[in-house]
Amino acid sequence: MLIDTYGRVATDLRVSLTDRCNLRCTYCMPEEGLQWLGRSDLLSDDEIVRLVRVAVTRLGITEVRFTGGEPLIRPGLVGIVERCAALEPRPRMSVTTNGLGLARIATALGAAGLDRVNVSLDTLRPEVFRALTRRDRHADVISGLRAAHEAGLSPVKINAVLMPGLNEDEAPELLAWAIQRGYELRFIEQMPLDAQHGWKRDGMITAGEILDSLGTRFRLAPEGERVRGSAPAERWIVDGGPHRVGVIASVTRPFCHACDRTRLTADGQVRTCLFAREETDLRGALRSGASDEEIATMWKLAMWGKRAGSGLDDPSFLQPDRPMSAIGG
Ligand code: 5AD
Ligand code: SF4
Repeated sequence: MLIDTYGRVATDLRVSLTDRCNLRCTYCMPEEGLQWLGRSDLLSDDEIVRLVRVAVTRLGITEVRFTGGEPLIRPGLVGIVERCAALEPRPRMSVTTNGLGLARIATALGAAGLDRVNVSLDTLRPEVFRALTRRDRHADVISGLRAAHEAGLSPVKINAVLMPGLNEDEAPELLAWAIQRGYELRFIEQMPLDAQHGWKRDGMITAGEILDSLGTRFRLAPEGERVRGSAPAERWIVDGGPHRVGVIASVTRPFCHACDRTRLTADGQVRTCLFAREETDLRGALRSGASDEEIATMWKLAMWGKRAGSGLDDPSFLQPDRPMSAIGG
């Protein structure tokens, strides 16, 4: 299995399928000028399936999440899901997507064996969506969510990031809307992972502020540590239940001690953490003929070097060179 020197075991693999995206969320990317990975830098579909197979059959991975950039723009996605669903033991699989194109592909993804989706939606207001993502595609996300729900990719989860001056007042509205439609909403604190390095600690909306804002309209009771386990979202029971809302406080209440993640970038580098500065080159190993066993050993060694935490609290914290779109969210 994948274990580190702090005794944490990784069972959850995040695989970035591309660093590209069809939106330009301000907390993620600049409008233009970002350098993309070249075609031959990217792992091929076969290479991805092989690495997932190694992770599932030799390293104890039970959960695989496909991310990006935007994973739905990868042409081979449905085939990759289908081939990973045939692995023994079969991993649980989900996709983190911005929802564009989901209406078209949700049924095929479900048929291929995908279990769930996480869709990013920060606002209910089309004009705010346009300001946040620099694209006028709000309606596509809404129809994507509906299609995922209808395709049984449930529970459909929504990730929302609140940005000052844009959607910071929308938390209660988003929660009421999500509850009405049976979506599970989680708020994510804005993290220093934007390509343009514009993040400022005092410019972000904290979990505390999000909860205060929700508290103006809902009664929230903590679900408790025991239920949280290794899940990064702290969950709150809304108005006595059964609905819940999650808050992922990576900055103000980090959960590194319970982390069960390992990550694979679109160009085949293992990262033990979003905020890690080290990478282990599995693509190079694959392409120079390494055996499954050798790859598994490299991955275990990478995991053994996993740091105690993100280092976000440390004054000497340095933002990773690569943005989230290249690492995989
Ligand atoms: N901070 C917090 N969340 C982010 N996401 C993308 N960039 C950031 C950031 N800098 C979110 C996306 C998506 C998920 C993968 O992470 O909105 O929902
Ligand atoms: Fe694309 Fe997601 Fe980044 Fe927005 S946050 S630009 S949807 S990768």
